[in-house]
Amino acid sequence: MLPLTEIIQKELDGLQTRGRFRSLAQTRERSGTMLEFNGRYLLNLSSNDYLGLAGQQELLETYLDDAGGHVGDYAMTSSSSRLLTGNHPLYDRLELQLAALYGREAAMVFNSGYHANTGILPALSTRHDLILSDKLNHASIIDGGKIADATFKRYRHLDYAHLESLLAAASGKYRQVFIITESVFSMDGDLADLRRLCDLKEQYQAMLIVDEAHSVGTFGDQGQGLCEAQGVTERVDIIIGTFGKALASTGAYAVLDLLVRDYLINTMRPFIFTTALPPAILGWSIKVLEAQQTMQAERHHLQHISGQLRDALTAVGLETYGDSHIVPVIIGSDELAVQKATQLRDHGMLALPVRPPTVPENTARLRFSLRADLRWDDIAMIPQLLSGEQP
Ligand SMILES: Cc1ncc(COP(=O)(O)O)c(C=O)c1O
Repeated sequence: MLPLTEIIQKELDGLQTRGRFRSLAQTRERSGTMLEFNGRYLLNLSSNDYLGLAGQQELLETYLDDAGGHVGDYAMTSSSSRLLTGNHPLYDRLELQLAALYGREAAMVFNSGYHANTGILPALSTRHDLILSDKLNHASIIDGGKIADATFKRYRHLDYAHLESLLAAASGKYRQVFIITESVFSMDGDLADLRRLCDLKEQYQAMLIVDEAHSVGTFGDQGQGLCEAQGVTERVDIIIGTFGKALASTGAYAVLDLLVRDYLINTMRPFIFTTALPPAILGWSIKVLEAQQTMQAERHHLQHISGQLRDALTAVGLETYGDSHIVPVIIGSDELAVQKATQLRDHGMLALPVRPPTVPENTARLRFSLRADLRWDDIAMIPQLLSGEQP
């Protein structure tokens, strides 16, 4: 038997050989759309700051000024879990604000989307239940499914006929069936048909959970997400949103019925057994949640330039998917994807290659995460650069 260190070394060597070894870059000094990445200033096309809120100095300065006058109320730590002494009044304010925004009974704030997705389903389901999850759902949802005692099955991506066949086959065999989907898919930028999912969940008395991590702030008149845009906010059982992407803060939330909230407070392990968010972060989340509500012009601009980029990529024969501000360009081999990313970097743009196992084999891609503070001119040369034409 080899010692563990040698086994680990072999695995890392294997990742190196296949060009899949991951390492951490030095990133800092963001100013608007620019990022310092390993010492170079680049146009940041790889962040989740979809509304450009993280770079809004004035908003941050106002917040820090307000908070500075009440340092005791805006501490940098909560020093405890929420069920002990960490449940600062700002939690109540934020949760009431979220429930009001969505017009739902209650909301619940978590430390991160990862906490939410690894906690909610394991708390709600038992071994007598079934979870049906879109094949391309985020790793945190898959991990939640693994932790849960329920049977976990995946339906083909956006294939609701397949989902329906699984629902029909499950009929009468389980205590409860759960359906879980992202709304904007993080790797392909395509959209779930939430009306169809609501019809199915109602027909089969399933519970529907929608993860809006990539659509909060970017879809819907008030930035609630795709549930708002598709008019199903009241029909979805649990809507999950994250603060760490378009909302430029930290943490996550669910909007849900009061009864389910009470149950999760009593049973959800990543909610109970972790230190609560610092009040300084909760106050900032309240601020940005309010600020994003009136950013319709930014949302429209973001969708507009995303469509423009997609059209321009298709026009030069490149393969792209989706219908959102996440624009993937499918390259194929890992090596070529890395090469194209390097080429873009040489032209001052940062779009990181996404490779298997994050995406299926032979679909290595460049993933452009567009943001509302970009102008079309900033990104207009991308299609020519990727297709090999000189811009
Ligand atoms: C769809 C989806 N859900 C959840 C998460 C996790 O959210 P957080 O970064 O707040 O842990 C992510 C993060 O990338 C995500 O893409």
